[in-house]
Amino acid sequence: MISRVTSALLFGLIIALSHGCGGSIVDEESTPNSRLFAASCQSCHTLPKPTDKSDEEWPPLVRKYGEQAKLTGEQIDRITIYLLANN
Ligand code: HEC
Repeated sequence: MISRVTSALLFGLIIALSHGCGGSIVDEESTPNSRLFAASCQSCHTLPKPTDKSDEEWPPLVRKYGEQAKLTGEQIDRITIYLLANN
């Protein structure tokens, strides 16, 4: 379980590096951030949709559940960026 999550995160990191770091905050389907979201946010319930919540609602929710999921601050930021770019 732990190692599956870890390898999913590592995989995302490798993709991020191989795609170069453009520094863009625009996020689309199946990016490292969307995969991080999928890997992190469906262990306790089905994966929420980005459109479920507004720009005001997402940041505190991602922080709350991200902390429960033991994500780092950087991972929480990346998931928040993905959700706000796709809601
Ligand atoms: C440790 C288990 C756990 C993980 C991991 C988790 N959640 Fe949840 N989540 C819950 C539980 C339990 C509820 C429902 C109970 C509640 O409302 O507090 C919930 C409810 C939600 C809701 C509905 C809340 C509302 O007010 O409508 C959203 C949205 C949500 N989670 C988003 C996320 C996101 C985004 C992630 C990934 C960062 C995530 N969750 C990861 C346990 C988790």
